[in-house]
Amino acid sequence: MSYNDLRDWIAALERAGELRKIRTEADPILEIAEIADRVSKSRSSKYGPGGPALLFQNIKGHPNSQVLINQFGSERRMRLALGVDSLDEIADRIRAFMDVKSPQGFLDKVKMLPMLAEMGKFFPKTVTTAACKEVIRRDQFSLLDFPILQCWPKDAGRFITLPCVITRDPKTGKRNVGMYRMQVFDERTTGMHWQRQKVAAEHYRESLRAAATNAGAPPLPGLGKGGSSAAVDIMARTSGGSILPEGPLPTGKMEVAVAIGTDPALTFCAIVPAPPDVEEFLIAGFLRQKPVELVKCETIDLEVPADAEIILEGYVNLDELRMEGPFGDHTGFYSLDDLYPVFHVTCITHRKDPIYATTIVGKPPMEDGWMGKAVERIFLPLMKLTIPELVDINLPLEGVFHNLMIVSIRKSYPGQARKVMNAIWSLGQAMFTKCILVVDEDVNVQDLGEVTLKVLNNIDPERDIQFTLGPIDSLDHSSRLPNYGSKMGVDATRKWSTEGFARPWPDEITMDAKTKSLVDSKWKALAKELGIE
Ligand SMILES: Cc1cc2nc3c(=O)[nH]c(=O)nc-3n(C[C@H](O)[C@H](O)[C@H](O)COP(=O)(O)O)c2cc1C
Repeated sequence: MSYNDLRDWIAALERAGELRKIRTEADPILEIAEIADRVSKSRSSKYGPGGPALLFQNIKGHPNSQVLINQFGSERRMRLALGVDSLDEIADRIRAFMDVKSPQGFLDKVKMLPMLAEMGKFFPKTVTTAACKEVIRRDQFSLLDFPILQCWPKDAGRFITLPCVITRDPKTGKRNVGMYRMQVFDERTTGMHWQRQKVAAEHYRESLRAAATNAGAPPLPGLGKGGSSAAVDIMARTSGGSILPEGPLPTGKMEVAVAIGTDPALTFCAIVPAPPDVEEFLIAGFLRQKPVELVKCETIDLEVPADAEIILEGYVNLDELRMEGPFGDHTGFYSLDDLYPVFHVTCITHRKDPIYATTIVGKPPMEDGWMGKAVERIFLPLMKLTIPELVDINLPLEGVFHNLMIVSIRKSYPGQARKVMNAIWSLGQAMFTKCILVVDEDVNVQDLGEVTLKVLNNIDPERDIQFTLGPIDSLDHSSRLPNYGSKMGVDATRKWSTEGFARPWPDEITMDAKTKSLVDSKWKALAKELGIE
Protein backbone atom coordinates (compact mmCIF):
# COMPACT_ATOMS: atom_id res chain seq x y z
CA MET A 1 0.00 0.00 0.00
CA SER A 2 1.43 3.38 -0.91
CA TYR A 3 0.05 6.88 -1.17
CA ASN A 4 0.09 9.33 -4.05
CA ASP A 5 0.25 12.41 -1.90
CA LEU A 6 -0.44 13.87 1.52
CA ARG A 7 -4.23 13.92 0.98
CA ASP A 8 -4.28 10.27 0.01
CA TRP A 9 -2.32 9.55 3.19
CA ILE A 10 -4.65 11.66 5.36
CA ALA A 11 -7.63 9.72 3.94
CA ALA A 12 -5.88 6.44 4.78
CA LEU A 13 -5.17 7.65 8.32
CA GLU A 14 -8.83 8.54 8.72
CA ARG A 15 -9.98 5.14 7.39
CA ALA A 16 -7.61 3.42 9.82
CA GLY A 17 -9.05 5.43 12.75
CA GLU A 18 -5.64 7.08 13.23
CA LEU A 19 -6.61 10.73 12.64
CA ARG A 20 -8.54 13.29 14.70
CA LYS A 21 -9.85 16.45 13.07
CA ILE A 22 -9.84 19.35 15.51
CA ARG A 23 -12.39 22.11 15.07
CA THR A 24 -11.52 23.96 18.28
CA GLU A 25 -9.55 27.10 17.46
CA ALA A 26 -5.81 26.65 18.03
CA ASP A 27 -2.98 29.16 17.76
CA PRO A 28 0.09 28.23 15.69
CA ILE A 29 2.09 30.19 18.25
CA LEU A 30 2.80 27.63 21.01
CA GLU A 31 -0.76 26.31 21.45
CA ILE A 32 -0.71 23.67 18.68
CA ALA A 33 2.70 22.53 19.97
CA GLU A 34 1.39 22.11 23.52
CA ILE A 35 -1.57 20.07 22.27
CA ALA A 36 0.63 17.91 20.03
CA ASP A 37 3.12 17.39 22.87
CA ARG A 38 0.38 16.14 25.21
CA VAL A 39 -1.03 13.86 22.52
CA SER A 40 2.37 12.41 21.56
CA LYS A 41 3.01 11.56 25.20
CA SER A 42 -0.45 10.03 25.73
CA ARG A 43 -1.01 6.29 26.04
CA SER A 44 -4.74 5.84 25.41
CA SER A 45 -6.05 2.30 24.97
CA LYS A 46 -7.49 3.34 21.59
CA TYR A 47 -4.30 4.66 19.97
CA GLY A 48 -1.52 3.26 22.16
CA PRO A 49 1.64 5.27 22.82
CA GLY A 50 1.82 8.37 20.63
CA GLY A 51 -1.90 9.17 20.31
CA PRO A 52 -3.54 9.92 16.94
CA ALA A 53 -2.43 12.12 14.05
CA LEU A 54 -4.00 15.58 14.34
CA LEU A 55 -5.53 17.72 11.61
CA PHE A 56 -6.18 21.20 12.98
CA GLN A 57 -8.93 22.86 10.94
CA ASN A 58 -9.50 26.11 12.79
CA ILE A 59 -6.21 27.94 13.01
CA LYS A 60 -6.05 31.28 14.74
CA GLY A 61 -5.14 34.01 12.25
CA HIS A 62 -5.25 31.62 9.28
CA PRO A 63 -8.83 31.07 8.14
CA ASN A 64 -9.25 28.14 5.70
CA SER A 65 -5.87 26.67 6.64
CA GLN A 66 -5.26 23.19 7.96
CA VAL A 67 -2.26 21.91 9.92
CA LEU A 68 -1.28 18.23 10.00
CA ILE A 69 0.91 17.13 12.90
CA ASN A 70 1.90 13.80 14.52
CA GLN A 71 1.35 11.92 11.21
CA PHE A 72 4.29 9.58 12.02
CA GLY A 73 3.77 9.62 15.76
CA SER A 74 3.36 5.93 16.62
CA GLU A 75 4.78 2.60 15.57
CA ARG A 76 1.51 1.67 13.91
CA ARG A 77 1.37 4.87 11.85
CA MET A 78 5.00 4.50 10.85
CA ARG A 79 4.15 1.04 9.46
CA LEU A 80 1.03 2.42 7.78
CA ALA A 81 3.08 5.27 6.27
CA LEU A 82 5.47 2.81 4.67
CA GLY A 83 2.69 0.38 3.74
CA VAL A 84 3.98 -2.63 5.70
CA ASP A 85 2.74 -4.85 8.53
CA SER A 86 6.19 -4.87 10.07
CA LEU A 87 9.20 -2.62 9.48
CA ASP A 88 11.26 -5.80 9.19
CA GLU A 89 9.45 -6.40 5.86
CA ILE A 90 11.37 -3.46 4.42
CA ALA A 91 14.59 -4.77 5.91
CA ASP A 92 13.80 -8.14 4.25
CA ARG A 93 13.24 -6.48 0.87
CA ILE A 94 16.56 -4.68 1.18
CA ARG A 95 18.23 -7.93 2.18
CA ALA A 96 16.74 -9.69 -0.86
CA PHE A 97 18.25 -7.04 -3.13
CA MET A 98 21.61 -7.33 -1.43
CA ASP A 99 21.60 -11.11 -1.64
CA VAL A 100 21.84 -11.04 -5.41
CA LYS A 101 24.88 -13.02 -6.53
CA SER A 102 26.65 -12.57 -9.86
CA PRO A 103 24.81 -14.68 -12.41
CA GLN A 104 26.72 -17.86 -13.27
CA GLY A 105 24.99 -18.62 -16.54
CA PHE A 106 22.18 -17.72 -18.93
CA LEU A 107 19.50 -19.16 -16.65
CA ASP A 108 20.73 -17.10 -13.68
CA LYS A 109 20.62 -13.98 -15.85
CA VAL A 110 17.04 -14.72 -16.89
CA LYS A 111 16.11 -15.20 -13.24
CA MET A 112 17.49 -11.75 -12.45
CA LEU A 113 15.34 -9.97 -15.04
CA PRO A 114 12.26 -9.53 -12.83
CA MET A 115 14.41 -7.99 -10.11
CA LEU A 116 16.05 -5.60 -12.57
CA ALA A 117 12.62 -4.70 -13.96
CA GLU A 118 11.43 -4.06 -10.41
CA MET A 119 14.39 -1.77 -9.73
CA GLY A 120 13.54 0.20 -12.86
CA LYS A 121 10.15 1.03 -11.35
CA PHE A 122 11.71 3.03 -8.54
CA PHE A 123 13.42 5.78 -10.52
CA PRO A 124 11.73 9.21 -10.34
CA LYS A 125 9.65 10.30 -13.32
CA THR A 126 9.42 13.85 -14.64
CA VAL A 127 5.93 15.14 -15.39
CA THR A 128 4.73 18.43 -16.85
CA THR A 129 1.50 19.05 -14.98
CA ALA A 130 1.50 19.08 -11.23
CA ALA A 131 -0.89 19.63 -8.34
CA CYS A 132 1.79 21.64 -6.53
CA LYS A 133 1.39 24.30 -9.24
CA GLU A 134 -2.33 24.92 -8.85
CA VAL A 135 -1.32 28.34 -7.53
CA ILE A 136 1.92 29.99 -8.68
CA ARG A 137 3.13 33.08 -6.83
CA ARG A 138 6.16 34.78 -8.32
CA ASP A 139 5.44 37.98 -6.47
CA GLN A 140 3.11 39.13 -3.75
CA PHE A 141 3.80 36.10 -1.63
CA SER A 142 4.61 35.80 2.03
CA LEU A 143 5.72 32.90 4.18
CA LEU A 144 3.63 34.45 6.93
CA ASP A 145 0.50 33.42 4.99
CA PHE A 146 1.15 29.84 6.16
CA PRO A 147 0.33 28.67 9.69
CA ILE A 148 3.98 28.06 10.58
CA LEU A 149 4.41 27.11 14.24
CA GLN A 150 6.36 28.59 17.03
CA CYS A 151 6.95 25.44 19.06
CA TRP A 152 8.52 26.50 22.37
CA PRO A 153 8.54 29.75 24.36
CA LYS A 154 12.26 30.47 23.95
CA ASP A 155 12.39 29.60 20.24
CA ALA A 156 13.79 32.44 18.14
CA GLY A 157 10.54 32.55 16.18
CA ARG A 158 8.47 30.41 13.84
CA PHE A 159 10.18 27.39 12.29
CA ILE A 160 9.27 25.21 9.32
CA THR A 161 9.93 21.85 10.96
CA LEU A 162 9.04 19.20 8.36
CA PRO A 163 10.57 20.50 5.11
CA CYS A 164 12.05 18.30 2.39
CA VAL A 165 15.02 20.44 1.32
CA ILE A 166 16.19 19.68 -2.21
CA THR A 167 19.70 20.57 -3.42
CA ARG A 168 21.98 19.44 -6.20
CA ASP A 169 25.66 18.48 -5.99
CA PRO A 170 27.33 20.99 -8.35
CA LYS A 171 30.00 18.39 -9.16
CA THR A 172 27.99 15.24 -9.85
CA GLY A 173 24.52 16.65 -10.53
CA LYS A 174 23.05 14.23 -7.97
CA ARG A 175 20.08 15.52 -6.01
CA ASN A 176 19.63 15.30 -2.26
CA VAL A 177 16.53 15.57 -0.11
CA GLY A 178 17.24 16.36 3.54
CA MET A 179 15.10 17.54 6.42
CA TYR A 180 16.64 20.68 7.87
CA ARG A 181 14.56 23.08 9.95
CA MET A 182 14.02 26.61 8.64
CA GLN A 183 13.58 29.60 10.91
CA VAL A 184 11.28 32.20 9.37
CA PHE A 185 13.18 35.50 9.43
CA ASP A 186 10.58 37.48 7.49
CA GLU A 187 8.08 37.16 4.63
CA ARG A 188 10.71 35.91 2.16
CA THR A 189 13.75 34.67 4.02
CA THR A 190 14.48 31.81 6.40
CA GLY A 191 17.45 30.15 8.00
CA MET A 192 18.76 26.94 6.44
CA HIS A 193 19.87 24.72 9.29
CA TRP A 194 21.85 22.06 7.45
CA GLN A 195 24.43 20.93 9.94
CA ARG A 196 27.96 20.81 8.58
CA GLN A 197 28.15 17.02 8.31
CA LYS A 198 24.95 16.75 6.26
CA VAL A 199 24.76 16.27 2.51
CA ALA A 200 23.32 19.71 1.64
CA ALA A 201 26.12 21.36 3.66
CA GLU A 202 28.60 19.50 1.44
CA HIS A 203 26.73 20.74 -1.66
CA TYR A 204 27.09 24.24 -0.22
CA ARG A 205 30.84 23.76 0.33
CA GLU A 206 31.17 22.34 -3.21
CA SER A 207 29.42 25.47 -4.51
CA LEU A 208 31.85 27.60 -2.51
CA ARG A 209 34.81 25.67 -3.90
CA ALA A 210 33.49 26.11 -7.43
CA ALA A 211 32.91 29.83 -6.87
CA ALA A 212 36.40 30.23 -5.39
CA THR A 213 37.92 28.45 -8.39
CA ASN A 214 36.01 30.70 -10.77
CA ALA A 215 37.22 33.73 -8.85
CA GLY A 216 40.80 32.49 -9.34
CA ALA A 217 41.54 31.93 -5.64
CA PRO A 218 45.01 30.49 -5.05
CA PRO A 219 45.13 26.82 -4.09
CA LEU A 220 45.81 26.01 -0.44
CA PRO A 221 48.09 23.16 0.60
CA GLY A 222 46.27 19.84 0.41
CA LEU A 223 43.05 21.39 -0.81
CA GLY A 224 43.59 21.56 -4.54
CA LYS A 225 42.98 24.48 -6.84
CA GLY A 226 40.51 27.04 -5.63
CA GLY A 227 40.23 25.67 -2.13
CA SER A 228 40.11 28.87 -0.11
CA SER A 229 40.12 28.47 3.65
CA ALA A 230 36.71 30.00 3.90
CA ALA A 231 35.34 27.70 1.24
CA VAL A 232 36.66 24.61 2.91
CA ASP A 233 35.52 25.20 6.43
CA ILE A 234 33.19 28.12 6.47
CA MET A 235 30.91 26.43 8.97
CA ALA A 236 33.64 25.49 11.45
CA ARG A 237 35.13 28.95 11.28
CA THR A 238 31.84 30.53 12.12
CA SER A 239 31.29 28.44 15.21
CA GLY A 240 34.69 29.23 16.65
CA GLY A 241 36.13 25.79 16.14
CA SER A 242 38.54 26.43 13.30
CA ILE A 243 42.20 27.38 13.14
CA LEU A 244 41.79 28.57 9.56
CA PRO A 245 42.45 32.25 8.86
CA GLU A 246 39.57 34.63 8.22
CA GLY A 247 39.06 35.71 4.65
CA PRO A 248 36.36 37.04 2.34
CA LEU A 249 33.99 34.41 1.00
CA PRO A 250 33.49 33.99 -2.71
CA THR A 251 30.17 35.33 -3.93
CA GLY A 252 27.56 33.32 -5.79
CA LYS A 253 24.28 31.53 -5.26
CA MET A 254 23.20 27.96 -4.66
CA GLU A 255 19.69 27.03 -5.71
CA VAL A 256 17.47 25.31 -3.16
CA ALA A 257 13.87 24.06 -3.31
CA VAL A 258 11.71 23.00 -0.39
CA ALA A 259 8.69 20.71 -0.49
CA ILE A 260 6.25 20.77 2.42
CA GLY A 261 3.52 18.15 2.70
CA THR A 262 4.46 15.21 0.48
CA ASP A 263 3.42 11.57 0.51
CA PRO A 264 4.72 10.02 3.75
CA ALA A 265 7.41 7.82 2.15
CA LEU A 266 9.14 10.85 0.65
CA THR A 267 8.91 12.94 3.82
CA PHE A 268 10.38 9.99 5.71
CA CYS A 269 13.18 9.65 3.16
CA ALA A 270 14.30 13.22 3.91
CA ILE A 271 15.46 12.03 7.35
CA VAL A 272 17.00 8.77 6.18
CA PRO A 273 20.81 8.90 6.56
CA ALA A 274 21.38 7.62 3.02
CA PRO A 275 24.86 7.64 1.45
CA PRO A 276 25.34 10.96 -0.38
CA ASP A 277 25.39 9.24 -3.77
CA VAL A 278 21.95 7.66 -3.40
CA GLU A 279 19.10 10.00 -4.27
CA GLU A 280 16.27 9.99 -1.72
CA PHE A 281 13.78 10.16 -4.63
CA LEU A 282 14.96 6.67 -5.58
CA ILE A 283 14.71 5.40 -1.98
CA ALA A 284 11.18 6.80 -1.75
CA GLY A 285 10.35 4.98 -5.00
CA PHE A 286 11.70 1.76 -3.47
CA LEU A 287 9.64 2.22 -0.31
CA ARG A 288 6.46 3.18 -2.20
CA GLN A 289 7.12 0.61 -4.91
CA LYS A 290 6.27 3.25 -7.46
CA PRO A 291 8.23 6.23 -8.75
CA VAL A 292 8.09 9.70 -7.26
CA GLU A 293 6.77 12.17 -9.84
CA LEU A 294 8.85 15.31 -10.21
CA VAL A 295 8.17 18.60 -11.95
CA LYS A 296 10.53 21.42 -12.89
CA CYS A 297 10.60 24.53 -10.71
CA GLU A 298 9.45 27.90 -12.08
CA THR A 299 12.44 30.04 -11.15
CA ILE A 300 15.32 27.64 -10.48
CA ASP A 301 16.90 24.61 -12.13
CA LEU A 302 15.64 21.93 -9.72
CA GLU A 303 12.83 19.38 -9.76
CA VAL A 304 10.33 19.01 -6.94
CA PRO A 305 7.67 16.43 -6.00
CA ALA A 306 4.71 17.18 -8.27
CA ASP A 307 2.09 16.26 -5.67
CA ALA A 308 3.46 18.30 -2.76
CA GLU A 309 1.16 20.73 -0.94
CA ILE A 310 3.63 23.64 -0.92
CA ILE A 311 6.88 24.34 -2.80
CA LEU A 312 9.32 27.10 -1.91
CA GLU A 313 11.82 27.96 -4.62
CA GLY A 314 14.89 30.03 -3.92
CA TYR A 315 18.59 30.21 -3.23
CA VAL A 316 21.20 30.78 -0.55
CA ASN A 317 23.94 33.36 -1.10
CA LEU A 318 27.31 31.67 -0.68
CA ASP A 319 28.71 34.57 1.32
CA GLU A 320 25.74 35.15 3.62
CA LEU A 321 25.36 33.68 7.10
CA ARG A 322 23.01 34.75 9.85
CA MET A 323 22.39 33.74 13.46
CA GLU A 324 19.77 30.99 13.62
CA GLY A 325 18.08 29.64 16.77
CA PRO A 326 17.71 29.03 19.62
CA PHE A 327 15.23 26.23 18.98
CA GLY A 328 13.62 23.74 21.37
CA ASP A 329 15.20 20.56 20.03
CA HIS A 330 14.71 16.81 20.13
CA THR A 331 17.36 16.54 22.84
CA GLY A 332 14.86 18.07 25.26
CA PHE A 333 16.98 21.25 25.44
CA TYR A 334 17.14 24.40 23.34
CA SER A 335 19.86 24.08 20.72
CA LEU A 336 22.06 27.18 20.88
CA ASP A 337 22.02 29.85 18.22
CA ASP A 338 24.72 29.69 15.56
CA LEU A 339 25.49 31.01 12.09
CA TYR A 340 23.78 29.29 9.16
CA PRO A 341 23.04 30.16 5.53
CA VAL A 342 20.00 32.26 4.64
CA PHE A 343 17.35 30.96 2.23
CA HIS A 344 15.77 33.57 -0.06
CA VAL A 345 12.41 32.58 -1.53
CA THR A 346 11.94 33.54 -5.18
CA CYS A 347 8.61 31.86 -5.83
CA ILE A 348 5.98 29.87 -3.96
CA THR A 349 3.76 27.34 -5.70
CA HIS A 350 1.05 25.41 -3.90
CA ARG A 351 -2.19 23.53 -4.13
CA LYS A 352 -5.46 25.37 -3.64
CA ASP A 353 -6.04 25.50 0.12
CA PRO A 354 -2.75 23.77 0.93
CA ILE A 355 -2.47 21.59 4.01
CA TYR A 356 0.53 22.62 6.08
CA ALA A 357 2.41 19.55 7.39
CA THR A 358 4.58 20.04 10.43
CA THR A 359 5.98 18.42 13.57
CA ILE A 360 7.38 19.48 16.90
CA VAL A 361 10.45 18.11 18.58
CA GLY A 362 11.23 18.30 22.29
CA LYS A 363 11.54 15.92 25.20
CA PRO A 364 10.94 12.37 24.00
CA PRO A 365 8.77 10.49 23.30
CA MET A 366 7.69 12.49 20.28
CA GLU A 367 6.85 11.98 16.62
CA ASP A 368 10.47 12.08 15.42
CA GLY A 369 11.35 9.23 17.80
CA TRP A 370 9.09 6.87 15.83
CA MET A 371 10.70 7.99 12.59
CA GLY A 372 14.09 7.23 14.14
CA LYS A 373 12.90 3.78 15.20
CA ALA A 374 11.91 3.05 11.60
CA VAL A 375 15.37 4.13 10.42
CA GLU A 376 16.87 1.78 13.02
CA ARG A 377 14.94 -1.23 11.69
CA ILE A 378 15.49 -0.45 8.03
CA PHE A 379 19.21 0.22 8.43
CA LEU A 380 20.05 -2.90 10.40
CA PRO A 381 20.62 -5.09 7.29
CA LEU A 382 22.72 -2.33 5.74
CA MET A 383 24.84 -2.03 8.88
CA LYS A 384 25.31 -5.79 8.81
CA LEU A 385 26.99 -5.43 5.42
CA THR A 386 30.00 -3.80 7.06
CA ILE A 387 29.54 -5.23 10.57
CA PRO A 388 28.48 -8.84 9.89
CA GLU A 389 28.71 -9.89 13.56
CA LEU A 390 25.89 -7.47 14.42
CA VAL A 391 22.78 -9.27 15.69
CA ASP A 392 20.46 -6.44 16.76
CA ILE A 393 20.51 -2.75 17.67
CA ASN A 394 18.35 -0.50 19.83
CA LEU A 395 18.33 3.29 19.82
CA PRO A 396 16.15 4.02 22.87
CA LEU A 397 13.89 7.07 22.38
CA GLU A 398 15.45 8.85 25.36
CA GLY A 399 18.87 8.42 23.73
CA VAL A 400 17.65 10.91 21.07
CA PHE A 401 19.21 8.98 18.12
CA HIS A 402 22.78 10.03 18.71
CA ASN A 403 23.35 9.67 22.44
CA LEU A 404 22.92 5.92 22.93
CA MET A 405 23.10 2.82 20.74
CA ILE A 406 22.87 -0.65 22.25
CA VAL A 407 24.19 -3.42 19.99
CA SER A 408 24.41 -7.16 20.39
CA ILE A 409 27.12 -9.08 18.55
CA ARG A 410 28.13 -12.65 17.83
CA LYS A 411 31.62 -12.50 19.35
CA SER A 412 34.17 -14.78 17.70
CA TYR A 413 37.55 -13.26 18.50
CA PRO A 414 39.17 -11.17 21.23
CA GLY A 415 38.60 -7.42 21.11
CA GLN A 416 35.66 -7.70 18.71
CA ALA A 417 33.39 -5.42 20.76
CA ARG A 418 35.89 -2.59 20.31
CA LYS A 419 36.18 -3.32 16.62
CA VAL A 420 32.37 -2.99 16.38
CA MET A 421 32.39 0.36 18.22
CA ASN A 422 34.95 1.74 15.80
CA ALA A 423 33.00 0.42 12.84
CA ILE A 424 29.85 2.19 14.08
CA TRP A 425 31.73 5.46 14.62
CA SER A 426 32.89 5.27 11.01
CA LEU A 427 29.45 4.65 9.57
CA GLY A 428 27.75 7.78 8.16
CA GLN A 429 25.66 9.62 10.74
CA ALA A 430 26.31 6.83 13.30
CA MET A 431 29.59 8.72 13.78
CA PHE A 432 27.67 10.96 16.20
CA THR A 433 26.82 8.12 18.61
CA LYS A 434 27.96 9.38 22.00
CA CYS A 435 27.64 6.11 23.84
CA ILE A 436 27.69 2.57 22.39
CA LEU A 437 26.93 -0.40 24.61
CA VAL A 438 28.09 -3.72 23.15
CA VAL A 439 26.56 -6.92 24.56
CA ASP A 440 26.68 -10.59 23.60
CA GLU A 441 24.13 -12.03 21.19
CA ASP A 442 22.07 -13.69 23.96
CA VAL A 443 21.11 -10.29 25.43
CA ASN A 444 17.86 -8.87 24.10
CA VAL A 445 18.82 -5.27 23.34
CA GLN A 446 15.16 -4.28 23.10
CA ASP A 447 14.71 -5.10 26.81
CA LEU A 448 16.30 -2.21 28.69
CA GLY A 449 15.92 -4.03 32.01
CA GLU A 450 17.92 -6.97 30.73
CA VAL A 451 20.51 -4.65 29.19
CA THR A 452 20.95 -2.76 32.47
CA LEU A 453 21.35 -6.00 34.41
CA LYS A 454 23.87 -7.56 32.03
CA VAL A 455 25.90 -4.45 31.19
CA LEU A 456 26.42 -3.38 34.77
CA ASN A 457 27.20 -6.90 35.93
CA ASN A 458 29.66 -7.52 33.12
CA ILE A 459 31.86 -4.47 33.20
CA ASP A 460 34.96 -3.44 35.03
CA PRO A 461 34.55 0.22 34.06
CA GLU A 462 38.20 1.20 33.91
CA ARG A 463 39.01 -1.82 31.75
CA ASP A 464 35.92 -1.93 29.54
CA ILE A 465 35.22 1.67 28.64
CA GLN A 466 36.78 2.95 25.44
CA PHE A 467 36.95 6.70 24.83
CA THR A 468 37.52 8.25 21.46
CA LEU A 469 37.47 11.75 20.01
CA GLY A 470 35.71 12.86 16.88
CA PRO A 471 32.75 14.63 15.29
CA ILE A 472 29.81 15.30 17.60
CA ASP A 473 26.24 16.20 16.70
CA SER A 474 25.79 19.97 16.34
CA LEU A 475 22.95 19.81 18.88
CA ASP A 476 25.19 18.47 21.65
CA HIS A 477 25.54 21.25 24.23
CA SER A 478 28.05 19.46 26.46
CA SER A 479 30.96 18.73 24.12
CA ARG A 480 34.17 20.71 24.68
CA LEU A 481 33.75 22.44 21.33
CA PRO A 482 30.78 22.74 19.01
CA ASN A 483 30.74 19.65 16.75
CA TYR A 484 33.85 18.08 18.28
CA GLY A 485 34.23 16.02 21.43
CA SER A 486 34.53 12.61 23.00
CA LYS A 487 32.49 9.42 22.65
CA MET A 488 32.34 6.34 24.79
CA GLY A 489 32.02 2.65 24.01
CA VAL A 490 31.29 0.08 26.69
CA ASP A 491 32.41 -3.50 26.09
CA ALA A 492 29.83 -5.39 28.13
CA THR A 493 30.44 -8.75 26.47
CA ARG A 494 31.68 -11.72 28.51
CA LYS A 495 35.43 -11.37 28.91
CA TRP A 496 37.66 -14.14 27.61
CA SER A 497 40.97 -15.43 28.83
CA THR A 498 42.38 -14.40 25.44
CA GLU A 499 41.37 -10.87 26.41
CA GLY A 500 43.43 -11.14 29.58
CA PHE A 501 40.57 -12.17 31.90
CA ALA A 502 41.97 -14.89 34.14
CA ARG A 503 39.04 -15.38 36.54
CA PRO A 504 36.19 -17.86 35.89
CA TRP A 505 33.04 -16.31 34.38
CA PRO A 506 29.98 -17.38 36.37
CA ASP A 507 26.88 -19.02 34.88
CA GLU A 508 23.65 -17.11 34.69
CA ILE A 509 20.92 -18.31 37.04
CA THR A 510 18.20 -20.36 35.34
CA MET A 511 15.96 -23.11 36.76
CA ASP A 512 16.53 -26.64 35.48
CA ALA A 513 14.08 -28.00 32.89
CA LYS A 514 12.72 -30.79 35.11
CA THR A 515 11.64 -28.47 37.92
CA LYS A 516 10.22 -26.01 35.43
CA SER A 517 8.00 -28.60 33.77
CA LEU A 518 6.88 -29.87 37.18
CA VAL A 519 5.76 -26.39 38.17
CA ASP A 520 4.30 -25.81 34.67
CA SER A 521 2.01 -28.79 35.19
CA LYS A 522 0.70 -27.29 38.43
CA TRP A 523 0.82 -23.66 37.45
CA LYS A 524 -2.79 -23.13 36.42
CA ALA A 525 -4.09 -24.26 39.78
CA LEU A 526 -1.29 -22.55 41.68
CA ALA A 527 -1.82 -19.26 39.91
CA LYS A 528 -5.50 -19.37 40.85
CA GLU A 529 -4.60 -20.11 44.44
CA LEU A 530 -2.07 -17.28 44.44
CA GLY A 531 -4.45 -14.87 42.72
CA ILE A 532 -1.84 -13.96 40.05
CA GLU A 533 -3.55 -15.24 36.90
C1 LIG B 1 11.89 16.50 12.49
C2 LIG B 1 13.33 16.48 12.12
C3 LIG B 1 14.04 17.68 12.04
C4 LIG B 1 15.39 17.68 11.69
N1 LIG B 1 16.05 18.87 11.62
C5 LIG B 1 17.35 18.90 11.24
C6 LIG B 1 18.03 20.13 11.11
O1 LIG B 1 17.50 21.20 11.39
N2 LIG B 1 19.32 20.11 10.67
C7 LIG B 1 19.96 18.94 10.34
O2 LIG B 1 21.11 18.98 9.91
N3 LIG B 1 19.34 17.74 10.49
C8 LIG B 1 18.05 17.69 10.92
N4 LIG B 1 17.40 16.50 11.04
C9 LIG B 1 18.12 15.25 10.75
C10 LIG B 1 18.29 15.08 9.26
O3 LIG B 1 17.06 15.18 8.60
C11 LIG B 1 18.95 13.74 8.95
O4 LIG B 1 20.24 13.77 9.51
C12 LIG B 1 19.02 13.44 7.46
O5 LIG B 1 19.64 12.19 7.26
C13 LIG B 1 19.77 14.51 6.72
O6 LIG B 1 19.74 14.22 5.36
P1 LIG B 1 21.09 14.10 4.51
O7 LIG B 1 21.76 12.85 5.00
O8 LIG B 1 20.59 14.00 3.12
O9 LIG B 1 21.88 15.32 4.78
C14 LIG B 1 16.04 16.47 11.41
C15 LIG B 1 15.33 15.26 11.49
C16 LIG B 1 14.00 15.26 11.85
C17 LIG B 1 13.26 13.98 11.96
